[in-house]
Amino acid sequence: MKPYTQLTQAERSEEYARLQQEFIALKAKGLSLNMARGKPGKAQLDLVSDLFGLMQRPEDYVSGGIDVRNYGEMSGVPAARKLFAEILDCKPEQVFVGGNSSLQLMYDTVARAYTHGLLHSPRPWCREETVKWLCPSPGYDRHFKITEVFGFQLITIPMTPQGPDMNAVEEAVKDPAVKGIWCVPKYSNPDGIIYSDETIRRMAALSPAAPDFTILWDNAYCVHEFEGDYVPFPDILSLCEKAGRPDMVIEFASTSKITLPGAGVACFACSQANLAYLESLLVPQIISFDKVNQQRHVLYLQDKAHTLALMKKHAAIMAPKFRAVVDTLDREIAPLEIASWQRPKGGYFVSLNAMPGTAKRTLALCKEAGVTMTGAGATFPYGKDPQDSNIRIAPSLPPVEELEQAIAVFCVCLRMAALERLGV
Ligand SMILES: Cc1ncc(COP(=O)(O)O)c(C=O)c1O
Repeated sequence: MKPYTQLTQAERSEEYARLQQEFIALKAKGLSLNMARGKPGKAQLDLVSDLFGLMQRPEDYVSGGIDVRNYGEMSGVPAARKLFAEILDCKPEQVFVGGNSSLQLMYDTVARAYTHGLLHSPRPWCREETVKWLCPSPGYDRHFKITEVFGFQLITIPMTPQGPDMNAVEEAVKDPAVKGIWCVPKYSNPDGIIYSDETIRRMAALSPAAPDFTILWDNAYCVHEFEGDYVPFPDILSLCEKAGRPDMVIEFASTSKITLPGAGVACFACSQANLAYLESLLVPQIISFDKVNQQRHVLYLQDKAHTLALMKKHAAIMAPKFRAVVDTLDREIAPLEIASWQRPKGGYFVSLNAMPGTAKRTLALCKEAGVTMTGAGATFPYGKDPQDSNIRIAPSLPPVEELEQAIAVFCVCLRMAALERLGV
C-alpha cells in the first residue's frame, strides 16, 4: 500500500469506497468496546486479591506501636511513609500519605494555594489579578481541568521527546503571574515519555519570577514499566534542594495502578517546611486518613523490591495489549503515512498524532462503530487541540481479543478520516 498522499484522486475514491464497506460491516457487529480511560483490566485487579486477606489478627492492625484503627498520625502510618519514600527515592519525613487518590491531593493543593496561598505566596492566589499555569501538551486532561476550574489561564508548553520544551518553560517563568506547571515525568500521560536528565536538571534549576511558583510533579507511573526492567529515576526533591529552591516542587504518587484504582493509597512528597505548612492547612479538614488501608498496603507491598516484583506481573498482562496496538498500527497505518505514534515502555497510554484536522472525525467514526475513545482535544488545555491531531489510546482495560477488534475499527476510521481530508 502506497502513502495516501501519493494516491491519485481516483485511487483515493476507490480506497474510500472499500473502507466504507468495511465500516458498514463493522457497525453491523454492534460492538461496544472501550479504549477511553487508563483503567487496569480485570486480570490486573484479580492479581492483587490477596490484599483483602491480610488483616485477620489484632496484631495486624498495629504498626510500629500505632493502632491504625484509631485517629492520629496525620501524615500517615510511618511504615507507609517509608514505603513511598523508598519507591520515590526520597526521605520518609518528606512524605505525607493520604487517602485513595493522588488527584484529590493535587486538587486540594491547588485549592489551598487559591484560598490560603502556598508557603512563599505573598497572598492567596484568589487575590491575584491573573494566575497563569504551564501545561505541557499533550498532557493529562484532569490536570488541566483542575487549573481550569480555578480560573487560571492555561498556557500550552509543547512536549518534546525529552519532556516539556524547557526553553519555553524558562521563558514563561519570567512572568510573575505564572505560578506553576503540571509534570508527569515518567511515562508521561499520554506520550509515555520519560523526561531526560537534562530536562529534569533544568526543571529543578528554574528561577521563576513568582516566589511561590510550584512544580506539581505527578509521578503517577513511577514503577510502571511493562517492557524491560525498572528504570531508576532522579529524585526531584533533592535536585530542587541542591539548586537552592527546596520548596518549589510537590511530588505526587499513588498505588492506583499498583493495587486498586479508587481503593489504593496516595501520597505527596515535598520539603519538610512545605509539608509542615500544607499539613497545618489540612488539620482543620481531617483528623486522619484511612490508615487501615495504608497498613493493608504496607503488609501487601512490603518494600520497593517486592512492589517491583508485583509490577512485573502487571507487565505480563499489559505488554501483550500494548503490543497488539502498536503492531497493528505498524502494519495497517505506518505504510500510509497518515499518523505517527510513540512506543512507550511503561505507563498506560499510546499517543498517536493523526494527520492534522482528522482526530475529531476519526473518533466520531469510532463512536459510530461502537468504540469509545478519549475525546479528541482532551490532551490539550481547554480540551482544544489546535491541530486536531492528537489521539490518546488506552489499551489497558479490554482483554486482548476485544482490543484487537477495537484497534482494527480504529484503523479503518483513521484511514477514512485521512482520505476525507485529502479529498475523495
Ligand atoms: C498522570 C495521572 N495522574 C493521576 C492519575 C489518577 O491518580 P489517582 O487514582 O491516584 O487519583 C492518573 C490516572 O489516570 C494519571 O494518569
